[in-house]
Amino acid sequence: MKKFTILVVLSVLLSVQFAAAQDDAPQAGSSGLGDPYFPDLGNGGYDAEHYTISLIWDDETNNIEATTTVLAKANLDLITFNLDFGGFDIEHVLVDGTEATFTREERELAITPATPLRQDETFEVMVSYNGVPGEDVSDYYDVFARGWMRYPSGVYVASEPDGAAYWYPVNDHPLDKASYTFIITVPDAYTAAANGQLVSMVDNDDPTTTFTWEARDEMASYLATVNIAEFTEVTAAGPHDLPIRHYFPADKTDELTETFANFSDIIAYFETIIGPYPFEAAGAAVADVRLSFALETQTLILFGSDIALGRSGAEEVIAHELAHQWFGNSVSLAQWKDIWLNEGFATYLSMLWLEHSEGQNELLRQMNAYYTYLARSRRSTAPANPPQDNLFNDGVYLRGAWALHALRLSVGDAIFFDILRTYYDRFKYSNATTADFISVASEVSGEDQSDLLHGWLLDDKIPPKPKQTFKP
Ligand code: TRP
Ligand code: ZN
Repeated sequence: MKKFTILVVLSVLLSVQFAAAQDDAPQAGSSGLGDPYFPDLGNGGYDAEHYTISLIWDDETNNIEATTTVLAKANLDLITFNLDFGGFDIEHVLVDGTEATFTREERELAITPATPLRQDETFEVMVSYNGVPGEDVSDYYDVFARGWMRYPSGVYVASEPDGAAYWYPVNDHPLDKASYTFIITVPDAYTAAANGQLVSMVDNDDPTTTFTWEARDEMASYLATVNIAEFTEVTAAGPHDLPIRHYFPADKTDELTETFANFSDIIAYFETIIGPYPFEAAGAAVADVRLSFALETQTLILFGSDIALGRSGAEEVIAHELAHQWFGNSVSLAQWKDIWLNEGFATYLSMLWLEHSEGQNELLRQMNAYYTYLARSRRSTAPANPPQDNLFNDGVYLRGAWALHALRLSVGDAIFFDILRTYYDRFKYSNATTADFISVASEVSGEDQSDLLHGWLLDDKIPPKPKQTFKP
């Protein structure tokens, strides 16, 4: 007891001292945001507000000559701060136009401005660098995203969860979303497409063209993308004048236009069940390479041509990635461990689209197939407790979807869709946790849903399959 009191007194004293120190001396911003799975992802001490990424790409070497400017706001008086950034030769780092000193260890770039930054001050960090993205850097967390990827006919960028720092200096965590400008210069034959809207296309004196894209809606760093190839732009009419523009490999435009024919209908359907599409534009960029994946890059979804073509499941993947615009991109996770909030939701919403477009039997057929698979699988984990090095395992997707399905069967359709809408509305353009979802589910249904959801989300063993009768 006594020991305890002494400890308390001591820690109060220490924290008073610490607070005093904080008042007068500028601090170092931390090198991470404390994500339990990725403690060094992101940085403390400031909030990034806007990134301007300006680069010249060489198609022969895949070299980029780049300048990224980060507009940020200090959260405290800062003597040094970090950006996440791996690879490249860094030429200069300027803070508010003045040369700053910097050091680098792995993916942590530590910057010391000539004069400390004041709390609440907005400042601008400009980093100029060049090199081949991803060269001479080790995989930091050994997860599968490496950011900027060269393939025979172009470039795609896929960074989830930690690849953004391999092509631009960044506060690399979804907790710090920002808006972006991309100024991309490519040889004349190519088109560069990025998030947001194309605001200018300038044919330079040398044989290059500069494409400027503005992404006004804030986004998580892993959702930033640039796609370079010989593309044809295909536009379509979205609901309520939402601009839709797809970037398809020029020689596959007809087939792909067909694959993406109901893109707009899927958006309109999700709007009826969740809420208005959250961003300024929508569309797909198809990389002409066998990627065997798609990524929900904000407003410009990345598909490998193998996923988009000649596979009967393409529509389901399109619905999945579109669903991420609401769940994942607008409502973002606050920690990577909660990845099921992205993947389980997107998977179930793609099932809801199938139910809507093909009938309830189609949903049941798929959910039953998932259950059978999960009950046998030894690699699928509980959705809300995936291993750090296997975040995207089947349990996250399929059992995550089953968690929502089980909730729906238990509370009935009216309450279930009310839960979805309320959760979305409360956390849109922001971040949420599993606990946030469970508390909305309990609040809206008027019953504690933690037992049901913990069973589906956290138990090692999948719960028994419920009887699938739908209540209104
Ligand atoms: N989020 C992707 C999906 O919709 C999967 C994914 C995770 C991914 N990390 C990636 C895709 C990196 C491409 C690159 O399921
Ligand atoms: Zn997904």
